[in-house]
Amino acid sequence: MEIKIENISKNYKDVKALENINLNIKTPAMIGLVGPNGAGKTTLMKILVGQILPTSGKITVDGKVLNKDFSYLKERLGYLPQDFGLYDELSVEQFLDYIACFKGIEKKRKEIVRKSIEETNLLEKRKAKIKTLSGGQKQRVGIAQALLNNPELFIVDEPTVGLDPEERIKFRNIFSKGSSKKVVILSTHIIEDVQSVCNYIVVLNKGKTLFSGPPNELIKRTMGHVGTVEVKSGEEDIIEKDFKITSSVVTPKGVRYRIVGEKLPKFCEEIIPSLEDAYVYCMLKEGDSLNEEFQTI
Ligand SMILES: Nc1ncnc2c1ncn2[C@@H]1O[C@H](COP(=O)(O)OP(=O)(O)O)[C@@H](O)[C@H]1O
Ligand SMILES: [Mg+2]
Repeated sequence: MEIKIENISKNYKDVKALENINLNIKTPAMIGLVGPNGAGKTTLMKILVGQILPTSGKITVDGKVLNKDFSYLKERLGYLPQDFGLYDELSVEQFLDYIACFKGIEKKRKEIVRKSIEETNLLEKRKAKIKTLSGGQKQRVGIAQALLNNPELFIVDEPTVGLDPEERIKFRNIFSKGSSKKVVILSTHIIEDVQSVCNYIVVLNKGKTLFSGPPNELIKRTMGHVGTVEVKSGEEDIIEKDFKITSSVVTPKGVRYRIVGEKLPKFCEEIIPSLEDAYVYCMLKEGDSLNEEFQTI
């Protein structure tokens, strides 16, 4: 599958939620869409799944214009929205069967439902009512419904919010399964999620793409802008004023900071950036986009 997003903008009255987004996505791709709240992640996903229309710009899927030939995408799409409602009184199995019917799956429906339950590790809970599930289990039901039609394009909006670390790991494993034949777009503000499963990262802020490309590329651009410094207690202000701090550890002498900034101080020990540092640096350079051209993923 090939998705071309060209000059997509979206205004909600006077709010510019998206401004000139350009991305070219090809199977296989596991894309982490990251950015703070209000960056435009959900808006971009809603446009991609045809839930809302862009103010301007064009999206094509395998050469077909999205808004004209929507059924082409719909048949190939699995979507888990950010605010996903579930039917509390139904069991996991009943709910998935209902959604499968809704999606028009007739042949082998039982088998398909069973497979999605297995893939999301919900076998033990298949007879349980949805209202009795934990947050993470409910999210997995959400994933299961999105996987029912074995989608080529799988879009999930902030699925790991509120999950404990163990659930998050389970989640990532589900994502990676079969991703070599899919385009997966996962929005999150947890950089760790991206680091462990995504081979592409798109950083969005205030409706603009600040970066799109492989995580390693983003890290490479951050080299020379991350370091550690030890500061005596009482002198923390100097660091806090000029740099973004990505971690701080108390030491016998004071505090050791991990800092990100355009120009590091002389007394700083330079280190290899993590993806989180790279993300912070990207935000720091906001407006001075690291990657403006039409990007191929
Ligand atoms: N239906 C809407 N009406 C008006 N403004 C909206 C609407 N949906 C989103 N916005 C605004 O658009 C911007 C992007 O929102 P959103 O796409 O939800 O960001 P994210 O998912 O990254 O948190 C925000 O400023 C938000 O307040
Ligand atoms: Mg959102």
